[in-house]
Amino acid sequence: MSQTHFGFQTVDEGEKARRVKGVFDSVASRYDVMNDLMSMGMHRAWKAYTVAVANLREGDRVLDIAGGTGDLSRAFARRVGPTGRVVHTDINEAMLRTGRDRLLDEGLALPTTICDAEKLPFKDGSFDLVSVAFGLRNMTHKDAALAEMGRVLRDGGRLLVLEFSRVAEPLRKPYDWYSFQVLPRLGQWVAGDAESYRYLAESIRMHPDQATLKAMMKTAGFGHVDVHNLSGGVVALHVGIKC
Ligand SMILES: C[S@@+](CC[C@H](N)C(=O)[O-])C[C@H]1O[C@@H](n2cnc3c(N)ncnc32)[C@H](O)[C@@H]1O
Repeated sequence: MSQTHFGFQTVDEGEKARRVKGVFDSVASRYDVMNDLMSMGMHRAWKAYTVAVANLREGDRVLDIAGGTGDLSRAFARRVGPTGRVVHTDINEAMLRTGRDRLLDEGLALPTTICDAEKLPFKDGSFDLVSVAFGLRNMTHKDAALAEMGRVLRDGGRLLVLEFSRVAEPLRKPYDWYSFQVLPRLGQWVAGDAESYRYLAESIRMHPDQATLKAMMKTAGFGHVDVHNLSGGVVALHVGIKC
């Protein structure tokens, strides 16, 4: 079996998928509170920016991949209205259930499907917009996942990839200190799980930087790709157009 990385460790590909599942099984119930704490609420602004860039219209068809607890799905559903469709998906049942229950509590019943981004169960050209927020980093075959995202988009459709990225040089030291000293302790304190948050910090370092991801999206068939750096590159939004 081929090898890949799980954070800073080298593991078999099957082992990576099992370990990623373990991380999200472990954090699902505390995911939202941890997101607010560790990003100091900034993930809300990053997602709001993504929703603004999505510029959805009533009736649009949207696929939210690795949708987890449903922040983007919820915001998209409000914009596409009753004539549109937002499909909320994730590979992890615990994350998807937590999100689905939360959306139902808010009066929003969306089509919800467990699926692997690397093998999407949708026909070619089914969506106007595909999003993946903080999910691509965890995928074993990122090229295959990006190609699948392109396949299910209509011509002219857009892929929005919101993901941790390479921070600007002056921020690097304090960001490393925060990531490796503070995050695991916060994870232990709030979610009883330091390891999953150590994986988060490591997986961010192993993820392709802005230019590399842009090149990967072009190779996957996105003729035009824009990169929006947010918070000094802590996060980047890549917008790819299938053209
Ligand atoms: C950090 S969470 C992001 C959740 C949500 N999008 C957000 O921004 O809050 C990452 C999600 O990616 C999902 N994921 C990991 N590998 C995946 C895959 N191959 N296909 C689909 N989802 C995957 C995980 O199960 C997890 O729910």
